[in-house]
Amino acid sequence: MTPKRHLITAALPYANGPLHIGHLAGCYLPADIYVRYLRSKGEDVLFICGSDEHGVPITIKAKKEGITPQQVVDKYHKMMGDSFREFGVSFDIYSRTSNKTHHETASGFFLNLYNKGVFSEEVTEQYFDVKANQFLADRYITGTCPKCGNDKAYGDQCEKCGSTLNATDLINPHSTLSGEKPVMKETKNWFLPLDKMQPDIEAYIDSHKDWKTNVYGQCKSWLTQGLQPRAMTRDLDWGVKVPVKGAEGKVLYVWFDAPIGYISATKEYFENPPAGRKKEDWELYWKNKESRLIHFIGKDNIVFHCIIFPAMLMAHGEYILPDNVPANEFLNLEGDKISTSRNWAVWLHEYLLAFKEKQDVLRYTLCANAPETKDNDFTWKDFQAKNNNELVAILGNFINRTLVLTHKYYEGKIPLADEYTKSDILLLEEISKFPGKIAASLDAFRFREALAELMNLARAGNKYLADNEPWKIAATDEKRVRTIMNISLQISANLAVLMEPFLPFTSVKLSEMLNLTGFRWSHAGRSDLLAPGHKINVASLLFDKIEDPAIEEQILKLQESKKMNAEENKVTLPSKPETSFEDFSKMDIRVGTILEAERVPKTDKLLKLKIDTGLDQRTVVSGIAGYYKPEEIIGKQVSILINLAPRKIKGIESKGMILMAENTDGSLSFVSPASVITNGGSIK
Ligand code: MF3
Ligand code: ZN
Repeated sequence: MTPKRHLITAALPYANGPLHIGHLAGCYLPADIYVRYLRSKGEDVLFICGSDEHGVPITIKAKKEGITPQQVVDKYHKMMGDSFREFGVSFDIYSRTSNKTHHETASGFFLNLYNKGVFSEEVTEQYFDVKANQFLADRYITGTCPKCGNDKAYGDQCEKCGSTLNATDLINPHSTLSGEKPVMKETKNWFLPLDKMQPDIEAYIDSHKDWKTNVYGQCKSWLTQGLQPRAMTRDLDWGVKVPVKGAEGKVLYVWFDAPIGYISATKEYFENPPAGRKKEDWELYWKNKESRLIHFIGKDNIVFHCIIFPAMLMAHGEYILPDNVPANEFLNLEGDKISTSRNWAVWLHEYLLAFKEKQDVLRYTLCANAPETKDNDFTWKDFQAKNNNELVAILGNFINRTLVLTHKYYEGKIPLADEYTKSDILLLEEISKFPGKIAASLDAFRFREALAELMNLARAGNKYLADNEPWKIAATDEKRVRTIMNISLQISANLAVLMEPFLPFTSVKLSEMLNLTGFRWSHAGRSDLLAPGHKINVASLLFDKIEDPAIEEQILKLQESKKMNAEENKVTLPSKPETSFEDFSKMDIRVGTILEAERVPKTDKLLKLKIDTGLDQRTVVSGIAGYYKPEEIIGKQVSILINLAPRKIKGIESKGMILMAENTDGSLSFVSPASVITNGGSIK
């Protein structure tokens, strides 16, 4: 079915901290690219987002900062909205879940299900913190994940293995408020009977084998494990009040109210309807079978968007269901998980201070590296390389040469093409295929591939100029030069149209330089976008080189975060019991040199080393592969305990032990002599 209209949502971010590159790469950038592409095709599309202002993380943040939850969400709602705008994320509305329309909508939705008898009302024992005099829902409680053993799992979810949990599933639970062991206390809550709904949900998921494999796979694994009833209310005071008798002091579960935020925001958009539309039109997007609903999210949100929210919509009955849920994996930063609490992040508002007006460079890098099928890494070096070697050297260079020559030869007027050569015709044919190729990738949510195709068009342009060298024949073959320049200008115009979803700021800049207006996706591929005689404007560079110092500054900043964290987490081990000199001298520790090093196959941590101890050359297996690469350590002097009884490790006889110093973050470093010592020199 060709949908009549599209409702595109991007996960409502929690208003408890600023946005970082992981947010952008995971969810908002792909959503924005997709929406801009649909708009360029002239589709009816609405792009919805807003701040998720309820939930435990926000109240925890408020406690920590000594302010009210409302103050927390006011601060971050503004900050996040600003960042989205600055990076060109083109929501039709950026709303928030603390506003009135949302409270009414969410509470109405709950009542609808309640009146239909959908919920089961259950009195259960929940964890209660006596000291804090409060029930401990979701993130107020941590403990060990029963599925993977992670000891920092939360009461609603384990971030390590992605399991959705109930607080009572946790092993060895304790309160994040007081650190105390909680007690059990009875309370009444309303449960969505996902167990009973399983057949319907299963049929729904099974009808979407077209979803990304990571998404479909996670859903199937949920269903295989068997769905459990899930409480849709919480004993908390921050959130949407539960609108029924006997529910005083309770609010809707944040994952019940937040996705309804998509509905409230759509309603709100139509509260002051644009010309030609009316208030009720919000319903078209949510209730009309010819509408297509797509949720862009990160992978930690899959179960909520693919199972719980659809179950809510099914139970209600009037709504369409999500047609696709393109979820990305996570983006890491310089090899480490992005973390707000450890300040291991590139914050969007800080990025702009360092790289003014370079929004598109970040958009480009994040799209080229998007964690589409697996977790991916952002590094500053790669960022610099992508800017200098791709945006500057390929795209920027092509446009600049074309425009500068147009001004030089024709005073900025598009020349009339003369006869096309055979290779011109081949190239024009190739160009005509780009819009289709890029569109096919975008339709399949393969944004990296789409962007790579766009760059191939710029490459084709660059190659055309390099092959034809108009500057060499400018004086001798005026006709040929006109053709070459005309074709290069048509490629430039195509680039301006096709880059718009990915690089909107650059597209505007280039369109202004080309004096190009009113073109849409359907015009791209043609070689007559710029008519002969059309006057272009002054040319300026689209991108400029990013030099080393700017990158080093960013890397330094991250190193500072590492240091601060190490300081904060510093636990110095207490002293061991006293020992005698005699006992100490039993240990024969020597200086040795690493002669050979290789990884022990099928292990992550182990290196097999050959050490010259002065007495002999021997093999030692050491658990340092996470800290040193084999090729880096050959020739290094280390300390080795040579009279430790030999041990077999992974079938290899290890004779002795390399001494390592342990840092507060658990990382290891060799204990090496400060100046060169003859091998076999004793350490005493
Ligand atoms: N606030 C959630 C998060 O940041 C996402 C909520 S998405 C919605 O992970 F569907 F609930 F709105
Ligand atoms: Zn787990």
